[in-house]
Amino acid sequence: MIVLGFESSCDETGIALYDTEKGLLAHALHSQIEMHSEYGGVVPELASRDHIRRALPLTQKVLDQANLSLKDIDGIAYTQGPGLSGALLVGTSIAEALAFTLNIPTIGVHHLEGHLLAPLLEENPPAFPFVALLVSGGHTQLMKVTGIGEYELLGDTLDDAAGEAFDKTAKLLGLDYPGGPAVAKLATQGEKGRFKLPRPMLNSGDLNFSFSGLKTAVLTLANNNDSDLQTKADIAYEFQEAVTEILTVKCMSALRETGLDQLIVSGGVGANKRLREQLNFATKRKLCHVHYPRLEFCTDNGAMIAFAGALRLEAMTQHMNNNHSFTVRPRWDLAELQTPSTN
Ligand code: KG4
Ligand code: ZN
Repeated sequence: MIVLGFESSCDETGIALYDTEKGLLAHALHSQIEMHSEYGGVVPELASRDHIRRALPLTQKVLDQANLSLKDIDGIAYTQGPGLSGALLVGTSIAEALAFTLNIPTIGVHHLEGHLLAPLLEENPPAFPFVALLVSGGHTQLMKVTGIGEYELLGDTLDDAAGEAFDKTAKLLGLDYPGGPAVAKLATQGEKGRFKLPRPMLNSGDLNFSFSGLKTAVLTLANNNDSDLQTKADIAYEFQEAVTEILTVKCMSALRETGLDQLIVSGGVGANKRLREQLNFATKRKLCHVHYPRLEFCTDNGAMIAFAGALRLEAMTQHMNNNHSFTVRPRWDLAELQTPSTN
């Protein structure tokens, strides 16, 4: 089964083709980062308009890459939520219109399920069950995953998400949007030991997170010190150490508590090198395995949506959306998902 996937929940238009027999056939992405950067964050209306401009040319691009035409597609998957409603509506309506004309089924995919399953696109994917750390701009969650749609929430952030903390810290340090990669880059020039930031909730005894206090601590450090480049780099270094240490310790606790030995990491912050270093080291010590998506599939992309959609479409023999009415779900709890229905 060949599935075309559309991702348009935020500031990236991602389109991909996934074949349930041959794997990923093609993928293409247009990032709006440059367009939004002069505003310091995503402007929803501009995002929607840009998705309209990009969706069909990118669709043609992946078809060309795979040497296929529209009539070869068996189903269409699109991000139905959560995300910006206007941006979601663009992908959703284009996908449904296309499927209507081609008379093929569609599936609305949960964006976080896409992230969660992205590591399974790589070689030697882990089998269920595993622990998943989902670290994006809007979420920081630990989950026990026993199958498609079987997601048990183990821990969540009580306030800011890890990616949000990176973005806010970047703003405080005068760095560009998106903040994660900018903080990570500056941190490579930072000196160990000059500053010490707190590790909120490190010993809370549960698997929850809190990052907003860390951001306030960064603000205090920035206000109480010179604003030269080295100072900023030293703050970025210590901030990254704090976040990655907290994430690593909680992941190891989640593996211990569930008795599982496989961890997958996904979402934009999963691209962070220092996080990967710490997780590689900690899991190796405990004889556990950690899996990541390739770097370009940590952040938003069409491949993860085509993949998650293909798994669901393949498992479903009924309840497929063939009438092409649609809604988007800007807010959508991952725990509401169910396993694909086969009867
Ligand atoms: O998964 P994603 O592309 O979008 C959401 O669904 O939120 O994640 C974006 C987030 C942003 O907060 C960005 O600053 C962060 O991931 N990020 C990083 C890195 N690359 C992206 N954070 C830390 N280090 C990175 N290398
Ligand atoms: Zn995302």
